[in-house]
Amino acid sequence: MDIRLATKEDSTQVIFLWKKYLEETLKSGGVVLANDSNLGFFKRLFLWYASDPGAGCTYLAWDKKIPLGVLIWGSAAGPGLQTKQGNVAIGWGSYVVLDWRRKGIASALRKQAAAYLASAGYDILSGSVDSSNAASVKSVFALGFETTSTNVVLKLR
Ligand SMILES: CC(C)(COP(=O)(O)OP(=O)(O)OC[C@H]1O[C@@H](n2cnc3c(N)ncnc32)[C@H](O)[C@@H]1OP(=O)(O)O)[C@@H](O)C(=O)NCCC(=O)NCCS
Repeated sequence: MDIRLATKEDSTQVIFLWKKYLEETLKSGGVVLANDSNLGFFKRLFLWYASDPGAGCTYLAWDKKIPLGVLIWGSAAGPGLQTKQGNVAIGWGSYVVLDWRRKGIASALRKQAAAYLASAGYDILSGSVDSSNAASVKSVFALGFETTSTNVVLKLR
């Protein structure tokens, strides 16, 4: 298994896996729709990171030419948000295909992305996990993520 920074030539594989990611997380407590508009949003984000290495990163895990996992982490828009803890990057998500889970792929993708963003000048990675998604919750805490706030939503209509 290899982990590599994705380039714009990997667009098909990134979007293929990201669609699976959105579809699966929608079933396990997530709210982000797996539709073309959202796939377009993430494709633009991935292409931005591929063309501006300081903005963020997309990593792919491969078994020879078969993509096994994907991660997208980086800025939301322009330079990272500055906080008392430093510059913040967003963890947009990570996904590993079913047959390759529990082999350390998500941990490896996240460690590579964390090192990448640290060297790009980010101090903090911020993300959210759905509390009903045990794999997601356990895998981030296993890596040292901490809870800092409770996500709240207000229905506006
Ligand atoms: C969450 C996900 C990315 C984890 O990928 P993975 O490659 O299987 O994770 P890892 O093998 O690196 O797991 C690292 C640790 O996380 C924990 N973990 C991972 N999956 C788990 C599960 N299903 N149940 C309990 N603990 C789990 C374990 O502590 C594991 O270490 P161990 O296998 O030595 O016990 C994968 O399950 C997935 O793609 N799920 C669907 C998409 C999703 O929920 N993404 C996360 C959004 S934040």
